[in-house]
Amino acid sequence: MPTIHITLLGRFEVMVDAVPVAASSWTRRHAAALVKVLALAPGRRLHREQVIDVVWPDDTIEEAVPKLHKAAHFARRAIDVSNAVVLRGDNVLLCPDSDTTVDVERFEDLARRALVNEDVVAARQAFSIYGGELLPHDRYEAWAEERREQLRLRYLDLLRLDGCWERVVELDSSDELAHLALMRRYAANGDRHAALRQFERMTRSLQRELGVSPGHEATALRDRLIAERDVVARPGDPLLGRNRELSIAERALFDSAAGQSRTLIVTGLPGIGKSSLLAAIRARAEELSFCVGHGSSAPVEGAWPYAPVVEALAGVSRHHPTLLDGLPDHHRVEINRALAGAESSWSGASSHQRLYVAAAELVRRASATRGLLLTIDDVHDADDASLRLLHYIARSAYDQRVCIVFTHRPAPMSDTLAQTRQSLLDRHRAVELELGPLGTDDVTTLIRHHVPEPTPEQVRHIAALSRGIPFAVNELARRAGKEPKRVQPLNANVIGAASCPRRTRLSNAWLSSARRSTPTSSSPCPGCPKPQHSTTWTPPLPR
Ligand SMILES: Nc1ncnc2c1ncn2[C@@H]1O[C@H](COP(=O)(O)OP(=O)(O)O)[C@@H](O)[C@H]1O
Ligand SMILES: [Mg+2]
Repeated sequence: MPTIHITLLGRFEVMVDAVPVAASSWTRRHAAALVKVLALAPGRRLHREQVIDVVWPDDTIEEAVPKLHKAAHFARRAIDVSNAVVLRGDNVLLCPDSDTTVDVERFEDLARRALVNEDVVAARQAFSIYGGELLPHDRYEAWAEERREQLRLRYLDLLRLDGCWERVVELDSSDELAHLALMRRYAANGDRHAALRQFERMTRSLQRELGVSPGHEATALRDRLIAERDVVARPGDPLLGRNRELSIAERALFDSAAGQSRTLIVTGLPGIGKSSLLAAIRARAEELSFCVGHGSSAPVEGAWPYAPVVEALAGVSRHHPTLLDGLPDHHRVEINRALAGAESSWSGASSHQRLYVAAAELVRRASATRGLLLTIDDVHDADDASLRLLHYIARSAYDQRVCIVFTHRPAPMSDTLAQTRQSLLDRHRAVELELGPLGTDDVTTLIRHHVPEPTPEQVRHIAALSRGIPFAVNELARRAGKEPKRVQPLNANVIGAASCPRRTRLSNAWLSSARRSTPTSSSPCPGCPKPQHSTTWTPPLPR
């Protein structure tokens, strides 16, 4: 007795004793259709007239019966098993005498069990069987439609059971609960920008698919996230030791306002003050009545193309709604599509190209009468598509009132980021601002924000431990302020005690990069102030 396995999810394939029937054996379309229809039927059997209704809906019974016999014959020939399709009395049976399995049956069985018992293990087993939608090559066959949708919904239920929210949103972009779950997850991880962007994405999808707005919970979370500020220097606090960078940035804003677009690339270690400088440049641009849009990359969003750039454009559109409304329809469609994160519906280079053109048009209009500043933070985490779009905007805006400032860490740097930078620096007048450590006077001033009267020894130690990185200075000084008697070296636990998850993330990033780049002996790292102690970077401060 042969063993037969039929695959209908993601593709059509019949295996006899573990050997697949070659696709070329299915010379007759109706022979394959007959096998598929029977494989989907309970018990793999149907009444003759049911088969005829489905496969030859336009024929009379008399016309269809000989066709049914012919199709059964060709199906037997393809499968090469004598009783693969049997007409017995009024019934048509598929492989009645073989040990036969069908992936759909197994999937439905596991899915039922998983959902009834809320059994995540069974759900995962079911996922592994769901190789894709039902019979994708029969997309226009009416008989497969309803079943395909049922199976898809079942698959979505399993994904929800297992909390695979990204995948749920990909398959059903109008699932508000999935969007909300993602927002919450990003927020809990301290990725405020990612959470806000998920809200943006949800808003667009709900609007497009259902014509409704997000519910109360999502809106309340959005409001709370907006109210939280990034951990950057407060606008009232002057940035220490960044006068040169600020005046270069101001010059760039003036040039841009005069119609000579400028691009600045701000680089430096984690915690050195890139985001703070960006915030200061935005504040100055607002004083100069620029239109401002800001986006930030997050590592979680690798799969969402254009996220940080589109976030910046969304910010511009939010503050100036008439801009988006005024765009020609075909451009607005592209921008809205990108805002909804509809990457799965993008096909081929031409649709990406359309987004480029639409984004450039939005930028042109936003900068038509006054300056436009776009800031994109942390592009080392950006997807390649974002970098290419950023490059395109910078290039196409060369004679517009546009200033672009983006930040990234020096390493590791993807090839696309390296190329984007190089091209902007070499051919498009971009300028790099490499942020170095604060000097001792600035470190001392920063320490005084937390410890009004620091001892010279405290200052020396904090300067040495922090290597002039403002984030580290703040953390160490804050700790010294709380526990003047005993200051531990900055480590993940110390920072982990802080409430803000972003702080923890930042600290860990800073620590790991500091560890990578910090020698354990007295040799200073390039560009950092020489420690005043010839010691390792983590000695405890004295009691
Ligand atoms: N020039 C500066 N003067 C004072 N504080 C600063 C300065 N630069 C950064 N900070 C502080 O250091 C912390 C880290 O800065 P941030 O801008 O987030 O660094 P980065 O973006 O490079 O990781 C923030 O809390 C900020 O307030
Ligand atoms: Mg930053």
